[in-house]
Amino acid sequence: MIMKKLPGEPYLAYQNGELCLESARLSELARTHGTPLFVYSQAAMLGALAAYQRGFAGRQVQICYAMKANPALGVIALFAQAGCGFDVVSGGDLDRVLAAGGEAKKVIFSGVGKTRSEMRQGLQAGIGCFNVESEAELDVLSEVACSLGLRAPVSIRVNPNVDPQTHPYISTGLKDNKFGIAHERVLPTYVHAAALPGIRVVGIDCHIGSQITQAEPYLEAMDRMLDLVDAVEAAGISIEHLDFGGGLGIDYNGDTPPDAGQLWAALLAKLDARGFGQRQLMIEPGRSLVGNAGVCVTEVLYLKPGEQKNFCIVDAAMNDLPRPAMYQAYHQIVPLQPRADATQVWEVVGPICESGDWLGHDRALAPRQGDLLAVLSAGAYCMSMASNYNSRGRAPEVLVDGAQSHLIRRRETIAEQMQQEQLPGH
Ligand code: LLP
Repeated sequence: MIMKKLPGEPYLAYQNGELCLESARLSELARTHGTPLFVYSQAAMLGALAAYQRGFAGRQVQICYAMKANPALGVIALFAQAGCGFDVVSGGDLDRVLAAGGEAKKVIFSGVGKTRSEMRQGLQAGIGCFNVESEAELDVLSEVACSLGLRAPVSIRVNPNVDPQTHPYISTGLKDNKFGIAHERVLPTYVHAAALPGIRVVGIDCHIGSQITQAEPYLEAMDRMLDLVDAVEAAGISIEHLDFGGGLGIDYNGDTPPDAGQLWAALLAKLDARGFGQRQLMIEPGRSLVGNAGVCVTEVLYLKPGEQKNFCIVDAAMNDLPRPAMYQAYHQIVPLQPRADATQVWEVVGPICESGDWLGHDRALAPRQGDLLAVLSAGAYCMSMASNYNSRGRAPEVLVDGAQSHLIRRRETIAEQMQQEQLPGH
């Protein structure tokens, strides 16, 4: 039977009629660990990182994995061992990096709403940079740093007002988004920052959105950011590093984002042309490092053919894979052991009690009760956004390395879900 190109190739492929990730048979992992089950390929993650490393060969760069995409300790440890820093957005993220062996000095802390206690935590750990998103935050950070007798290393996040041409919920660099400091306020903010006793200016950053599939918005944002660097340095404030954020898209369903190596070749050519080629660079990729390294394996519980729609009810749901419900996102869904050509289309839905609980509309499949399916491109923003809705325990995660597999998170039990709770009066 004819199959579409699988996102995740060559690490994800059919071998002797069985879907495998690297050399691991997904059906065997499902038998061992149950379903729903997330499985990630170590080689795919390191391969995606290598594309960035090739793109930056000969430059000074710190790649900070945006761990919100997938914060599993096993994944963080892998990137830490490969030399990555981390983009964190909460005190909890920072704790995870340190627990997994990441270095505090390679951590940058992003986000519009850092609390004082998170600032203290970052300062005491000695993180590399706070990416500050408002003038009010800058003042509070200076105060917190002074109270500890420290100076906070700071980069100002610029909102360049560039349209990344992606889903509105994941577009962040337009002036009506809550992120960053408006282009025209950036210079005065740097002047203010440089005068604050608890602040040490170290960089500038921007991040315009996620699942970006074209190079142009990046090039435009870079131009705007470099204009600001010129202006800030002309005011006598020097900027050590330039951070271009993350956002590079992946192939979910025939999407054709530039390869990380190609994108960075284009961006570096611009940096060189403008005389910034030898600066310390930083980037914050998330999805493009892990998205197509993972799948979610799910079992077909029931088939309910109908007059209008055929429903294929599986054991994974919107609590495990929230992207379709949240962003109408498309994830390919394929059988682990294809055996017949599809003659019908199916609504692939989960067991949760609402109509928003769908994983795929109109999918050509030939499912039978008990079959195993894989939801593809599930390495990023799936487990990290999973919830306990309907008292469902979060799924286990397995990291595959060649033919070996490691359980990096076991299935959450109902006892674990209930352990933070108590009946009133107890
Ligand atoms: N840096 C900052 C400041 C960010 O806000 C983000 C993502 C990244 C880096 C990493 O972006 P990436 O390379 O992963 O595109 N839940 C949504 C995506 C939200 C992205 C939030 N920020 C989704 O499932 O599509």
